[in-house]
Amino acid sequence: MRLCFASNNAHKLDEIRPLLPASLELLSLADIGCHEELPETQDNLEGNARQKAEYVRQHYGMACFADDTGLEVTALGGAPGVYSARYAGPQRLAEDNVAKLLQELAGQPDRSARFRTVVALAGADGTMHEFAGEVAGRITEDQRGTGGFGYDPVFAPTEGDGRTFAEMSGTEKNRISHRARAVAGLVAFLNEA
Ligand code: IMP
Repeated sequence: MRLCFASNNAHKLDEIRPLLPASLELLSLADIGCHEELPETQDNLEGNARQKAEYVRQHYGMACFADDTGLEVTALGGAPGVYSARYAGPQRLAEDNVAKLLQELAGQPDRSARFRTVVALAGADGTMHEFAGEVAGRITEDQRGTGGFGYDPVFAPTEGDGRTFAEMSGTEKNRISHRARAVAGLVAFLNEA
């Protein structure tokens, strides 16, 4: 079976590939010749994930899944949430986003947060299915580690040993991450189909 993942984020592709059955041929947007920016104009993760998957199904005529992820920080009332990518501005720069987050939380004792991912699967038969995953953790005072991407250097999962996601190997992150949990739902669904 061939399935497109509506992303060109190499980090996400690297994380997701080992979670999928070997029999499944995973295609990136570049693989299907899609080089345009996908629409992502909804105000919630579910809507954005569905919108990206639907776009690929409609314009490229193939089954596709998309993910949308938000970092929800308790002391910031759930921000940056669905706006995590553009938290520090339209350039979508991880360094700027992380710097802004640490600044907003300076002196804040409540560092609790969670990552939430929604995966939407747009089937070739016109159906749409959603799978969610989340992981609780805390925002560290400083950046630690060089692995992963995005907010990983400042996110230490509760289930871990104090290390940030950026200090873990990809395999370790995949054991507990928001994205791995959402993708586990997708894989269970594909196996049943
Ligand atoms: P999106 O799902 O690509 O829209 O991601 C939204 C924002 O969250 C971007 O700034 C990403 O860099 C960040 N992000 C998404 N997934 C992760 C993750 O697994 N770890 C850290 N940051 C992430």
